[in-house]
Amino acid sequence: EKGAYRHFMEKEVHEQPDSVQHTLSEYLDLVTGAAKTQAIDFAAVDRIQIIACGTAFYAGQIGKYAFEKYAGLPCDVEIASEFRYRSPALTPGTVAVAVSQSGETADTLASLTWCKAQGLKTAAVVNVHTSSMAREADVLWPTHAGPEIGVASTKAFTAQVSALLALAVAAGVARGRIGADEEAALVKALFEAPRLIAEALQMDGQIRAIAQDLAKATDVLFLGRGAMFPLAMEGALKLKEISYIHAEGYAAGELKHGPIALVDEKTPIIALAPLDEVFEKTASNLAEVAARGGPVIMIAPATAPAPHGDGIRRVDAPDCHPLIAPLVYAVPVQLLAYYTAVQKGTDVDQPRNLAKSVTVE
Ligand code: F6R
Repeated sequence: EKGAYRHFMEKEVHEQPDSVQHTLSEYLDLVTGAAKTQAIDFAAVDRIQIIACGTAFYAGQIGKYAFEKYAGLPCDVEIASEFRYRSPALTPGTVAVAVSQSGETADTLASLTWCKAQGLKTAAVVNVHTSSMAREADVLWPTHAGPEIGVASTKAFTAQVSALLALAVAAGVARGRIGADEEAALVKALFEAPRLIAEALQMDGQIRAIAQDLAKATDVLFLGRGAMFPLAMEGALKLKEISYIHAEGYAAGELKHGPIALVDEKTPIIALAPLDEVFEKTASNLAEVAARGGPVIMIAPATAPAPHGDGIRRVDAPDCHPLIAPLVYAVPVQLLAYYTAVQKGTDVDQPRNLAKSVTVE
């Protein structure tokens, strides 16, 4: 039931403080401030191979950044439809991790089965705990988003990201990369995510105003660095799916290698710019875009310094630890797609040509 909400997507976006909290509690202990020990001994793992499709693939890419940064664990992420048909070269110490809301996506399931047949250890980050992937994998890493009705994935995505970030911290501890103090600090940061997601939901009014303009655009660019790069691609996918506006997500540093040619006064550029170690780099990319007449919308904390250039509109996001920025910034990205679609009058919960679960290739 949608209750007071107009669409399931809107309801599911607003459920995220709870679904993230619930998912994090699976992997982390709020009371002791420790990451729970996992069925897979991360100290004995050489590499992680994540396999997924669509939004789950972007969650996987965010996971990669965390596994490498916090656990020093090499991690590859691949689209399942490519992985399964290209004869990937995998080494024995690799754990294959399927990421999927439904646990039934044909290409992801086939990739998982193939990895298992190769003798690899397998795990599945899935939201439907009775699904084929949940049964097939050696280890089930559940997400607790609850049933997701909207075809465009929202709360399942943030649940996947929550699980992967928490697992990256667990891996860092198991591999001796993270000491007790850092572990407590990272666990605390993760448990702040539900409150900060709730705060991000208050950006509603600002986002609605931006969506009025986005609805008039034919092309939109999303930019980000670090974990904001996969989130930029997720933002572009969400906008495409439900508003049918052409959008692309790019790594901000790639801009000058081609996409900057697309910049004109009609193409809005949405920048995801939390105050992290690469903020200054992103800000200087935005100044370059603004200098070329591109209308920039910078989503950043109010405390972040302003980049040079006219025509940069700011949307204030909550201040947060860089680890949880993908969870907090997912909210404005989802709301932007949602309000743009509502403004255009498209069928938000049932976008044309899309099915909730892709069980055929
Ligand atoms: C996008 C979306 C899809 C799914 C993809 C994988 O909003 O929902 O891109 O993420 O089809 O589905 P699952 O996670 O069920 O494997």
